[in-house]
Amino acid sequence: MEKSVLILNGPNLNMLGVREPHIYGTTTLDDVELICRDKATKLGLEVSFLQSNHEGELIDAIQHAYGQQDGIILNAGAFTHTSVALHDALKAVGLPAVEVHLSNTFAREPFRHHSYISPAALGVICGFGVTSYLLALEALADNFKQ
Ligand code: DQA
Repeated sequence: MEKSVLILNGPNLNMLGVREPHIYGTTTLDDVELICRDKATKLGLEVSFLQSNHEGELIDAIQHAYGQQDGIILNAGAFTHTSVALHDALKAVGLPAVEVHLSNTFAREPFRHHSYISPAALGVICGFGVTSYLLALEALADNFKQ
């Protein structure tokens, strides 16, 4: 049976393509979804793709993944640096999760250097644009085989 992955995007990621293109590029979130779906098909994974600007909705999505999905890819946007609640939600469901970022958060402002998500994640991939998501899909596909 195909393993399934929830790809979850947090605040302002719906603005990709418009938002600070010198940092985030010109790829839209719809493009990111298409590129991820293509990669997932090649890896034999099923994906659900969701974006929300609301912390509670992201928490709900993580909770709903319990028993429904086999893994999570999370770009929590700015909530990465603020949300104990998202950390707790990942811990609560216990699914293998990969934290992703388009930009290299460590090469940016100091307030982006700390992540509440990382300690609850299997690993972190940042700085490769949409490729961060594709590497995360590969990492999860590999993890499912172990
Ligand atoms: C981001 C990095 C975060 O610091 C920022 O708040 C975002 C996007 C990224 O993908 O590079 O919204 O998660």
